[in-house]
Amino acid sequence: MSRIICIIGNKGGTGKTTLSHMLCQGLGLLGQRSACVLTDTSREPLSPDGRRYVTADARTPEALHKVVGKLRTMDGWLGVIDGGGNRSEMDRMLNGLADIVLLPFRDSHEDLRTVLRDLDAFPHAYALPSQWPTNAWARDAADRSVAQILGAHRDRLLHPVASLSASKLLLQKSIPDGLPSNVGNACRALARQVLEVLEIGDNAPREPQTTEQAERSASPPPTVLPEGYASTAHH
Ligand SMILES: Nc1ncnc2c1ncn2[C@@H]1O[C@H](COP(=O)(O)OP(=O)(O)O)[C@@H](O)[C@H]1O
Ligand SMILES: [Mg+2]
Repeated sequence: MSRIICIIGNKGGTGKTTLSHMLCQGLGLLGQRSACVLTDTSREPLSPDGRRYVTADARTPEALHKVVGKLRTMDGWLGVIDGGGNRSEMDRMLNGLADIVLLPFRDSHEDLRTVLRDLDAFPHAYALPSQWPTNAWARDAADRSVAQILGAHRDRLLHPVASLSASKLLLQKSIPDGLPSNVGNACRALARQVLEVLEIGDNAPREPQTTEQAERSASPPPTVLPEGYASTAHH
């Protein structure tokens, strides 16, 4: 069985395209095969050279239909569809065909209000804090705004993807040999959370674990509040 992950949301600039590529790269690093699917008519397809995933061009409705149909037949693959933004109808359609939906949002009240509306519109979607501040004070303030505005949806919040200037390397037409390790780590961390939500184990070879580590990794909650949030409720 293949799975389809859609990264959508009715707002531009939240990081959908970057996160689509980060997720696919991370899935590749964890030994999963994935395709990053472009739907944004204002963007050009990126070369698959050097990436740990394939890229697909689905900028017309016909092409999207074909790509999704093909993905459905590719056993064990994950398709990551980059939504494009500002297209509510398209988002509704992608929500209908996805196994999981991710709604990225940045650290601003405008983004928070938008993602709150989108969480209501897409009851099975997860909110993904994107370009999250790395400065401790700024991060704390951002986490408090999230707890305040999205507190009722705490079980649908994923761990933040930090602001990482080198993440833009993934959006170059061709990516450079050897991405910085902080980008690789962020890609892997994102992919791990998505695999947990989908209840798919990753295929990466692991170092032998201590019993304590094994216990911790055996029961990770699928979604948790970022550290420092008001509640520790898990589901
Ligand atoms: N994690 C991140 N760290 C730093 N900059 C980021 C990150 N994610 C996205 N960006 C930057 O934010 C801008 C918008 O990102 P993009 O992925 O194009 O968003 P969208 O596809 O939602 O419009 C781009 O300039 C991108 O490089
Ligand atoms: Mg985009």
